[in-house]
Amino acid sequence: MDIIFDLKGLRGAVSGWKNEGNSIALVPTMGNLHLGHLSLIEGAKDRADRTAVSIFVNPIQFGHGEDYELYPSTLEQDLDILRSANVDLVFAPNLDELYPAGTEADTRITVPDISDILCGEFRPGHFSGVATVVMKLFINVQPDYAFFGEKDYQQTLVIKRMVSDLLLPVEVLTLPIIREENGLAMSSRNGYMTESQKRLSAEIYKVMEKAATMMRVGADSFDEIEKNSVGLLEELAFKVEYFSIRRRQDLKLVTDSRDKSLIILVAAWIGETRLIDNLRVDI
Ligand code: PAJ
Repeated sequence: MDIIFDLKGLRGAVSGWKNEGNSIALVPTMGNLHLGHLSLIEGAKDRADRTAVSIFVNPIQFGHGEDYELYPSTLEQDLDILRSANVDLVFAPNLDELYPAGTEADTRITVPDISDILCGEFRPGHFSGVATVVMKLFINVQPDYAFFGEKDYQQTLVIKRMVSDLLLPVEVLTLPIIREENGLAMSSRNGYMTESQKRLSAEIYKVMEKAATMMRVGADSFDEIEKNSVGLLEELAFKVEYFSIRRRQDLKLVTDSRDKSLIILVAAWIGETRLIDNLRVDI
């Protein structure tokens, strides 16, 4: 496994692969790898001749006062995991390598509309930060395929829209959420929680499942279901940013009874930890 820290080395490895006619899959991550990341890596290995994983905690997607400084950095452990997974290349640049002009007045990618709702409303600039760093990775890795998890469903739509608008020759593939046995979606941020907070956080999945059942039987309006679900979570001491039923294709509000491919999306705080989750619902 090649472990590369600089763009020059990365570009050299990529051009070697391309010259030999290999297809390339990229899995962008911020490290502190868990089974959610590993499922993307397995998907990438199945799809392409060569698999590259990036590890970079991207400062510009964190807002002021968010957890950038606290974000877990476990590079040695991650490299062991990636070696066992038979990844071909790990790109783990430092800040200067990806942001040569700093992060205050540099060029950014902004994907309209989809970036401003839901998580974008509560984390202004977040998706521009994501799109910018993913674009930098796409330009330098030149992957044929890029893998993203549906855990960050809105992020997958932002990336797909960027790829489509900017005519990038990369196929974006998404894979389902990997959960703990109790239903809690795996996340690097779960490590911030105490054991009792983790147990409690499994309730998010249960409340989404309950809402999905209500949606399928058509007992209440979606507004009612959202309100009841927020109530259930607040009773359990969550601070809910949103619990929202949307169209899966574009995350617009459901205004037409012909919309059948839906998704429930949640963002909620438990103590100091912000959790997001979602559940597909077909009705
Ligand atoms: P990170 O949170 O490390 O996640 C990297 C990838 O793993 C993302 O595509 C995310 O959706 C996926 N992932 C995380 N938890 C998952 C789970 N439980 N099941 C399935 N997939 C999961 O997302 C980012 O990093 C960053 O925003 C990034 C795209 C790397 C840009 O900085």
